[in-house]
Amino acid sequence: MTHNTDVDRYRPHVHFTAQQHWINDPNGLVYFDGEYHLFYQHNPRGNDWGNMSWGHAVSRDLVHWEHLPVALEDDGEVMIFSGSVVVDRHNTSGLGQGAPPPLIALYTGHHRSGERQAQYLAYSHDRGRTWQRHGSQPVLDIGAADFRDPKVFWHAPSGRWVMVLVKADERKVLLYGSPNLREWVALGDFGPAGFTDGIWEVPDLFEVPVENGQTTAWVLKVDLNPGGPWGGSGCQYWVGHFDGTSFHADGDARWVDRGNDFYAAITWSDAPGRPVWLGWMNNWQYAKALPTSPWRGAMTLPRELHLRPEGGRLALVQRPIPALSVLRGHTETLGDTELSDLLLPVPGLAGPALELIAEFEPGGARECGLLIRDDNGNETTIGFDSLRAEVCIDRTRSGEAGFHPAFGARHSAAVALHEGVLRLHVFVDRSSVEVFSGTPLVMTSLIFPSGVHSEVLVFARGTARLRLLQGWNLRSTATGSLAQTSRAADTTA
Ligand code: FRU
Repeated sequence: MTHNTDVDRYRPHVHFTAQQHWINDPNGLVYFDGEYHLFYQHNPRGNDWGNMSWGHAVSRDLVHWEHLPVALEDDGEVMIFSGSVVVDRHNTSGLGQGAPPPLIALYTGHHRSGERQAQYLAYSHDRGRTWQRHGSQPVLDIGAADFRDPKVFWHAPSGRWVMVLVKADERKVLLYGSPNLREWVALGDFGPAGFTDGIWEVPDLFEVPVENGQTTAWVLKVDLNPGGPWGGSGCQYWVGHFDGTSFHADGDARWVDRGNDFYAAITWSDAPGRPVWLGWMNNWQYAKALPTSPWRGAMTLPRELHLRPEGGRLALVQRPIPALSVLRGHTETLGDTELSDLLLPVPGLAGPALELIAEFEPGGARECGLLIRDDNGNETTIGFDSLRAEVCIDRTRSGEAGFHPAFGARHSAAVALHEGVLRLHVFVDRSSVEVFSGTPLVMTSLIFPSGVHSEVLVFARGTARLRLLQGWNLRSTATGSLAQTSRAADTTA
């Protein structure tokens, strides 16, 4: 039995958290000069939402993060809400000073008095380490109270910058264009469309390669709160094309993630290779009640994106970035095994964070899957229900859940088996599970087990076949980043 009284017991082992205090949306994701920047919504003074500022961390591999000082801080009058950063390589803004080129942040200023939201600009000449605000005036202000979350990208065919942002209450994405990031003109708009039971937040519009082909298509992603697949927040997307002015969807909206804890994802600007994003691993339904301290809120693992033709249209496929394999430590495998009404432990897999790859042939079994147990008897099930052809994450007995009535639930979603095989690629951290299926289905779920993950089991109700299971203990990403941070603090002191 573990009697863990450490208040930090839920601290993720391989997911990003702030050293302390509240975080929500990732902001300003940009790759520049060998560094991936992660800015994020942050309260630098407390473990609840408030005093919104941009926290900051950098990484060379998207796996290990070095914490940096707060980049943009709430000034008491205007809070720094979500937004994006671009590299202004050709100094279109005129704000550069030679090399290195300026990084330009466009973010929403949320005025405490009068509840106005407008878009502001800040720039950095030193690789994102320090930021200056551009004058005191917003660069885009339509006098609205719910106008926010600008995501900016360079659109080469039209030779200008494009911004997408939301009119949250109207369930609309607005597009603006600019030659210089300072002056913006209205282009097209999109919506209401798709899921509209809640307000719209944090849009992103980006081009994604189609698997096994030379082509690309555009994806528009918009978050919804409430009205998500399980009632709280959710993340929807459309595939279509962008003509330089407007986005045209090829079909209906679909959910990005069918768990309950994936929100506000945006893609890295200027990153090499396929588009990569991560989201805030949370749900506004209970985000403010999570039983963690001295930090609250974590990011998902970074995910690579591509599109796959499926049922006559393109679907978004997310997979964990390959670089995560550097975390793999001790490994165990279980070969071909028939599971007949059986609950079978996989010996040797225990620890704060695990990666599991399992291939099942569910055959005639009613259910089969994985069970993650802690040493206090808490358990999380990741199962496949054959009748419904659904994957489900059951966190009703996964640990602490009483902090919100909606938390202790079971979430499920349809999956298409490939030649009768279900493939589960699972990252289990101290307080989360992320389930990838090699198909468009991804499920992300927070869990709060009081103990340490002590046992992984495979199970079947009826007869199924486990083709293979491989599991790894994952090394912590935190130690490196905290050590680096204190080194950085030493040298600046
Ligand atoms: C989304 C969001 C954004 C806003 C920010 C405020 O989670 O509500 O729309 O900019 O968080 O923290």
